[in-house]
Amino acid sequence: MMPIRTPGGTNAPGRFAAALACAALLAACPGAGPERRDAPARVDSAGAAHDIHSFGRPGDVRVTHADIDWTIDFDRREIAGSVTWTFERAPGAEGEPLILDTRGLSIEEVTAEDGTALDHALAHEHPALGRALGIMAPPGENRVVIRYRTSPGAGALQWLTPEQTAGGGKPYLFSQAQSILARTMLPCQDSPGVRITYRARVRVPRGLRAVMAARMEPGPEPSGALDAYLFEMPQPIPSYLIALAVGDIVFKEIGPRSGVFAEPSVIERAAWEFADTEAMIDATETMYGPYRWERYDILVLPPSFPFGGMENPRLTFATPTVLAGDRSLTGLIAHELAHSWSGNLVTNATWSEFWMNEGFTVYLERRILEAVYGKKRADMVSVLGWQNLLIDMKEMDAGDTALHNVSLQGRDPDDAFSRVPYEKGSLFLRLLEGEVGRERLDAFLRRWFDENAFQSRTTQEFEAALRERLFAGDPSRPGALRVDEWLYGTGLPDNAPEPESDAFDLAEAEARAFLAGEKPASALPVKDWSTQEWQHFIRSLPDDLDSRRMGALDQAWSLSESGNAEILFEWLKKSIRAGYAPALPPLEKFLIEQGRRKYLKPLYTELAKTEAGRRRALDIYRRARSLYHPVSANTIDQVLDYGG
Ligand code: BES
Ligand code: ZN
Repeated sequence: MMPIRTPGGTNAPGRFAAALACAALLAACPGAGPERRDAPARVDSAGAAHDIHSFGRPGDVRVTHADIDWTIDFDRREIAGSVTWTFERAPGAEGEPLILDTRGLSIEEVTAEDGTALDHALAHEHPALGRALGIMAPPGENRVVIRYRTSPGAGALQWLTPEQTAGGGKPYLFSQAQSILARTMLPCQDSPGVRITYRARVRVPRGLRAVMAARMEPGPEPSGALDAYLFEMPQPIPSYLIALAVGDIVFKEIGPRSGVFAEPSVIERAAWEFADTEAMIDATETMYGPYRWERYDILVLPPSFPFGGMENPRLTFATPTVLAGDRSLTGLIAHELAHSWSGNLVTNATWSEFWMNEGFTVYLERRILEAVYGKKRADMVSVLGWQNLLIDMKEMDAGDTALHNVSLQGRDPDDAFSRVPYEKGSLFLRLLEGEVGRERLDAFLRRWFDENAFQSRTTQEFEAALRERLFAGDPSRPGALRVDEWLYGTGLPDNAPEPESDAFDLAEAEARAFLAGEKPASALPVKDWSTQEWQHFIRSLPDDLDSRRMGALDQAWSLSESGNAEILFEWLKKSIRAGYAPALPPLEKFLIEQGRRKYLKPLYTELAKTEAGRRRALDIYRRARSLYHPVSANTIDQVLDYGG
């Protein structure tokens, strides 16, 4: 190939040839063409699992470090700035372009560090994956600078008006990059199999604070009319863990290496609710080895945050709907913290291995709950999880119910989201625990985390470790446990260990007594009930319970007014099914006040089952949609067939 480095602006023949070569390469980009649903997992030239959700070719040219320079513009709803990528080439790949993922980005300039323009080309747009950006850097060059802007509709970003925050006075921005949305924030190799370190300088309007899931340097420093915050992420992470929030954010310490960030009016409640965090870190370290991320802080977001929590490294992002006032929903923190081992430390190599992030994490979450709060709570949460699994499986395509999910070709992994990888994955580890005992499984998992720290792994690699280590000396046991069926088959194998809870048996007995007319609502022993017992009690009621008895429960215990989002959610779902009209105004309020997808999706789905309900759902959604994060809005668009 001709030399590629040319002074900016000139049109040397070499440059033209390189651009053509680059464009031809991009036209043949993997993932952009029609896909076979059952395509076998491929392995790239570096021996790593091939990721069908990224255009990158890390086996040839792989990014290792980013220097980010962002200016946050609330008026234009865009991030403008640059990313400087450091990359390395595999032997023999000297002539290959660096290929990055982008989606909705305006690429303004691509240069070497000295300002020399570099040839680059954008491939055609794939609806779920965006556009590949190919850059020809001269041999010997290992850094490129890309100046770009995000678009106001960037899928990872939500821009909130002051009215959408707790304080009501200042705007707010937050990001949510999992699974394949980091590419809407910056050009990157957006695959969980590619790890990078980064430094970032983030300029924000004075009076707002920027936080990132990274080491936060003391600041800010003035930068013209703006304030600049500096971050460094020293541990290598995949792109989906890059995270940013900007707003009226303050901090409070809650332990020697933990604290909470939140808006001022929320900070005290958040610090109280999450006071057990340090105990959770200690418990997890005892079971699974050292916490390797230095600090563990929690950012409590405004209510439109689309998830319960997101395990952004060193800084979990959390919904305010877990601030129940009694620490009963802190399992969410146990879960996101557990990802510091399962997911962030040892990462699913591709989104087809999502269960290796979430199934492991649910297993760890329940072990942490047991260690910190006792077996009763862990059992209750496990039973609720089992019920959730059955609810989801009833409505799913069989192909999506395999742990190693190969049905994601050409789809956004988010479209296949369900609790199967979470709960079925965790049940598989429970099954192993029952088979070899807790001590041996813990030792095995601890070694798995140690040996694979800061790397990405496939189901097959985990399976090999199982056979070699956990079942060494007894090759017939995996067969007897049906390991193949668990990992690669669909549905729930019938040796699944169904969890049990004595406390729930008692709550069910109370439900029966109430339904049989033996006990009035006011005589139920709810004073002793936790959130979980309430959840189970409400789930135990028949879907067609008459409005008189729904009303009796509501009057006795103000369920329609519950300040506990989990209890309110169960109650509202039951109310829609039972046609209990007094719950409709609180339902509408709940759908507008918060944007957590786990609540929105079932409630809109339930409403849409009747004609009148569907009209009501659309009426609410028309007003609420602009308040939701794109992740939630996309899901509800599909539920209601909105705009289609
Ligand atoms: N990593 C997930 C959230 C996620 C998954 C975001 C897939 C985007 C794509 C997080 O750890 C999670 O599972 N959160 C749960 C909480 C939990 C206690 C199961 C949630 O948000 O409900
Ligand atoms: Zn998770």
